[in-house]
Amino acid sequence: MRPIPSAWQGRRVRRFSAAGEDTGGTFSAGSFRPILYLPMNTNRRPAGVDFKRVQAHYDLGDEFFALFLDPSMTYSCAKFDTPQTTLADAQLAKIDLSLGKCELRPGHRLLDIGCGWGATAVRAHEHYGANVIGLTISQNQLAHDQKLAAGRPGLEFRLQGWETFDEKVDRIVSIGAFEHFGRNRYPAFFSRCRSILPPDGVLLLHTITIGKPNEDWDFLRFVHFIATEIFPGGDVPPPELLIAAARAASMELVHVESLRPHYALTLDRWAANLESRRADAIAVAGEDTYLSYMKYLTGCAALFRSGECNVHQFKFRVA
Ligand SMILES: C[S@@+](CC[C@H](N)C(=O)[O-])C[C@H]1O[C@@H](n2cnc3c(N)ncnc32)[C@H](O)[C@@H]1O
Repeated sequence: MRPIPSAWQGRRVRRFSAAGEDTGGTFSAGSFRPILYLPMNTNRRPAGVDFKRVQAHYDLGDEFFALFLDPSMTYSCAKFDTPQTTLADAQLAKIDLSLGKCELRPGHRLLDIGCGWGATAVRAHEHYGANVIGLTISQNQLAHDQKLAAGRPGLEFRLQGWETFDEKVDRIVSIGAFEHFGRNRYPAFFSRCRSILPPDGVLLLHTITIGKPNEDWDFLRFVHFIATEIFPGGDVPPPELLIAAARAASMELVHVESLRPHYALTLDRWAANLESRRADAIAVAGEDTYLSYMKYLTGCAALFRSGECNVHQFKFRVA
């Protein structure tokens, strides 16, 4: 426990219950646990889809992200069979791990919430015979995805948030997008998934989660840097909050898997790739952005190694 800094006295802090209610209060005399009061969710979220803050990250441009991602442009934790596995193979292994858990059958309608540059959607369509709708709220990702979908009936991408998607699907996969949603939206997210799935429906949700508590100011400063400069509005979920919100929406948790060591390896590879393309990165995005991204990638790798950050795949069934 730490004393409350005098500048924080009287300031309002927001915390959200599993039902999405703001159960926060006002800082007053006494002490507090900083980990519970991270600034990530205190900034205002718009009522609708958060296009502006999500796009602020991806609008850096495909050319920049291509400098450190694998050729499929998969931007989430990979799964390494061995430390020597290539990043591209490890990304495909993660995609197959995720789609395998979805219990896809040919002809199933799969919704990919937060499809990024489309690798999971393409794999589900080509290898599993699914009809896929991928949702992204990034313009440049959509432009890339629409090229992937050309000439492939049954593979479709939309510039749309899950908040406005209201069509029946058989399965839902969401990889590395939940961190953008904000905890006050978890109840709405799970209710939406529940309402569009059939009685045997499956949701595979892959997300970074908060790991072990850390009250060091260096850690809090780093989290603040990520939530303001790299992922504006980002909000990493405590796993228990996510599970409670799913349960309240009648989604049954049937399997959980942590991929924590794999995210440290993934971030190591991304950082090494970016460092090896330093001159190109500076030419594309400027030196400040290059340095911020090296700080983000190497700093996050350390947090996945030490356990402050985790990453989980949660498999839910309609209850
Ligand atoms: C880190 S990327 C992950 C992309 C991809 N799933 C992957 O593994 O490479 C996060 C994605 O979530 C999307 N996203 C963020 N908020 C969203 C929302 N409310 N509805 C749909 N997609 C959203 C972004 O547009 C982006 O495509």
